[in-house]
Amino acid sequence: MARDQAMGELTRFSVAMPEGLLMQFDELVARRGVAKNRSEVIRDLVRDALIRDEVDQVGAEVMGTLTIVYDHHASDVQETLHNIQHAHYGMIVTTSHVHIDEDMCLEVIILRGESTDVRIVADQIVGTKGVKHGGLVVTTVGQVL
Ligand code: NI
Repeated sequence: MARDQAMGELTRFSVAMPEGLLMQFDELVARRGVAKNRSEVIRDLVRDALIRDEVDQVGAEVMGTLTIVYDHHASDVQETLHNIQHAHYGMIVTTSHVHIDEDMCLEVIILRGESTDVRIVADQIVGTKGVKHGGLVVTTVGQVL
């Protein structure tokens, strides 16, 4: 909301799209709740596209949230994950560990740094033997209004 106010004057423009696509878009708008209308959802989508584009630029300073799931019994997995994080301690903001059950662990690792570096470290972590699943979400406060 604060960001919408920071944008100042709103400019109207018209958009043409196939009827079927518009119907699907209106369903999306409805799912996002009563506080959202077509214009607000379009603004959200445009910001999302701009942020994705910005974080893909080499040299962009980004924040990354990496979620991984692993079996802590798998050989050396915890030690390897620990070593990778110490090797890049300047980029690791924090790590949260959840014991899902007797075997499986979930870790959320927050990284900050240059876009390419964040992806390289995230790939190294996800690529560690024993890590079953992992996903990185990258964002930035950047220039996007
Ligand atoms: Ni655990």
